[in-house]
Amino acid sequence: MNAAHDPSGGPGGGDVAVVSGGSRGLGRVLVERLLADGWRVATFSRKPNEFTEATAEKYQDAFHWAAVDLTDSAAVRRFGRDSAQRFGRIDLLVNNAGVLRQELFLTTPAGRMDHLVDANLLAPAHLAQVCARVMMRAGGGSIVNISSINAIRGYRGVAVYAAAKAGLEGLGRSLAREFGPLGIRVNTVTPGFFDSEMTADVTPHNREKIQRRTPLGRLGTAEEIADAVLFLASPRARFITGQTLVIDGGITC
Ligand SMILES: NC(=O)c1ccc[n+]([C@@H]2O[C@H](COP(=O)([O-])OP(=O)(O)OC[C@H]3O[C@@H](n4cnc5c(N)ncnc54)[C@H](OP(=O)(O)O)[C@@H]3O)[C@@H](O)[C@H]2O)c1
Repeated sequence: MNAAHDPSGGPGGGDVAVVSGGSRGLGRVLVERLLADGWRVATFSRKPNEFTEATAEKYQDAFHWAAVDLTDSAAVRRFGRDSAQRFGRIDLLVNNAGVLRQELFLTTPAGRMDHLVDANLLAPAHLAQVCARVMMRAGGGSIVNISSINAIRGYRGVAVYAAAKAGLEGLGRSLAREFGPLGIRVNTVTPGFFDSEMTADVTPHNREKIQRRTPLGRLGTAEEIADAVLFLASPRARFITGQTLVIDGGITC
């Protein structure tokens, strides 16, 4: 809930969150928990699935899903504007959706480099601009960008993804400066490895290596990352902006 808003949610229902990539993984957990807490939620992914269809059925007035590709900046911007029009305001944006493809830098096709930067850096920037304009008119809001420990440590095979995520962290700090006077807080959550489709093809050998290097001895869960996102979005974090919270079981410490 945005600290600037009446806890009752005011006329028309609860506070409004835009979450990119809400069909599975961390995005799905965020959508489920926000809806359960009385928020109205707009989300997109490229394809619908059982979760988005069942949720649209269950929360007819409080949930909106659309098919949008992160690399289509006009569609991403339209989604932000449509969400504001449908629900009347936006209190929270979680730039969650991300695209990772592991391959060595020297053999990464040029088009894929553009794709990774478009999806992981430019799409969140477009969505932040559209949503912040709406938040500003209502007197405030909160943005949480989802980065990766690849942004703060070197790993083979993820150079462009890492660069885009590092850019996202820089974007967040700079936006915190610009948006603070508008009542909009901007923070970053930087997860380590957690179980999702994105990490489903980690080999048992690499999984064991990650666990061995992690002080807490395991991969995280999407729920544990969501806890940090929801904290930063909540009034309990009302004096926190421009910060990066690393949630990684200690692997980067
Ligand atoms: N899992 C990890 O270990 C890990 C670690 C560090 C950081 N992260 C970051 O955490 C965030 C969430 O990751 P996750 O593991 O939950 O991901 P995930 O399970 O792969 O889910 C990604 C979500 O984004 C959507 N998406 C993917 N490509 C898209 C595109 N081009 N256009 C629109 N939507 C797209 C997916 O739906 P569709 O496929 O239908 O489009 C899905 O809803 C990402 O930013 C990721 O980089 C993850």
